[in-house]
Amino acid sequence: MSIQKEYIEKNKERFLDELFSLLRIPSVSADPKYKGDVIKTAEAVKASLIAVGADNVELCETGGYPVVYGEKIIDAKLPTVLVYGHYDVQPADPLELWTSPPFEPTIKKTDIHPDGAIFARGSCDDKGQMFMHVKALEVMLKTNTLPCNVKFMIEGEEEVGSANLGGFLKANKEKLKADVILISDTSIIANDTPSIDVGLRGLAYMEVEVTGPNRDLHSGVYGGGVANPVNVLCKMIASLQDENNHITIPGFYDNVMVLSDAERAELNKAPFNVDAYKKDLDINDIHGEKGYTTLERTGIRPTLDVNGIWGGYTGEGAKTVLPSKAYAKISMRLVPNQTSEEISNKFAEHFKKIAPASVKVKVSHHHGGEPVVVSTSSPAYLAAAKAMEETYGKKPIPTRGGGSIPIVALFKSVLGLDSVLFGFGLDSDALHSPNEHYGLFNYYKGIETIPLFYKHYMSGK
Ligand code: BES
Ligand code: MN
Ligand code: MN
Repeated sequence: MSIQKEYIEKNKERFLDELFSLLRIPSVSADPKYKGDVIKTAEAVKASLIAVGADNVELCETGGYPVVYGEKIIDAKLPTVLVYGHYDVQPADPLELWTSPPFEPTIKKTDIHPDGAIFARGSCDDKGQMFMHVKALEVMLKTNTLPCNVKFMIEGEEEVGSANLGGFLKANKEKLKADVILISDTSIIANDTPSIDVGLRGLAYMEVEVTGPNRDLHSGVYGGGVANPVNVLCKMIASLQDENNHITIPGFYDNVMVLSDAERAELNKAPFNVDAYKKDLDINDIHGEKGYTTLERTGIRPTLDVNGIWGGYTGEGAKTVLPSKAYAKISMRLVPNQTSEEISNKFAEHFKKIAPASVKVKVSHHHGGEPVVVSTSSPAYLAAAKAMEETYGKKPIPTRGGGSIPIVALFKSVLGLDSVLFGFGLDSDALHSPNEHYGLFNYYKGIETIPLFYKHYMSGK
């Protein structure tokens, strides 16, 4: 057994206890009610970096929640790895669907995780995955095997779009000087099928407000004679996709990068079991854009989804009302070379255009992010692949992740740095859903694999 693995074995229980402490703090960035807890979590991450021996550890102001920074510079002439992660989490609701409290980590066995998984909000996304890097640094420092410099930049606003982080990058170019970005905030295909994401989708997130009459009306007295904004909004939304589930916004696909048949064939080589997919989600059929496979629909094609829709009476019982207003939150996942600004503008223009004269429409823009693709031939990607091959006994498959991490595109455009998306979670770990969990297997596998990335990265230098 390597000295690193031996060290992990000896400290297994403590590594888990420490993650549990972090998971107990409800760092929900979207809800101002948790402000104190989000900051408490930043403090806890800072303390954890100090405890493992990182230097110059501090909380950096950003205009929003602080970035936790820390570093270990062993020789300024050597390459530097910049680790990025986030300590904020998604809201836990609907609370009643959790089988154990979201901020009281509990180990439970599942079919996919027979050795047990940690159930807690943020266990996989991203506290568990981020903390693997803190522990991997401990392993390397305690076994004298850290082969290069490392910097940590752990943020607290990823789940709300990282609006302040671009400015932070621009203002701290020198401090963040590095050779590559290392991130564990994505998934692998399965615990016996390692993979590395080589793409992330971008995002344009809109909110619409449709106003009919100037007040809620009696739906009998006025119904039939005045436009109902909820009905109108539903019709408008329905028209945004055609019978082939193609998005109808003019120019929406103008800049979508078209993959060659060979590239598509390569992408579709990744194992995907449609029956297991349907069973996991309890759906009778899959759905999506005509002419594309599920892997393509979720990886290389853009989407449009309603995230929430409301208006009128939604309380107990029945109230006969013709509402004055209706609202929806609509997000579009983007692929290269669409941009968040371009698509937001096209959406807004189209949405206003299709509104009937009987209503008024307001469109506003929430956060966005740009899509990215990662090269599979960079030394850093190859080092990550080699590290996984060593610990999983199989070469990882390059895959396209469907989610977004807004800062990754900015790492490239502001700092000129490529990222390695070194994720260890599973899509079925219920990120953003009730009962989020992270396998014990995945947590320890990550801690074991990360130091090997450093080793292989440096042996290529
Ligand atoms: N870690 C996820 C993104 C992710 C998950 C990428 C799985 C690939 C595979 C991240 O925390 C996330 O949820 N991002 C948000 C971004 C948004 C709030 C701007 C997303 O994708 O919805
Ligand atoms: Mn995440
Ligand atoms: Mn997330």
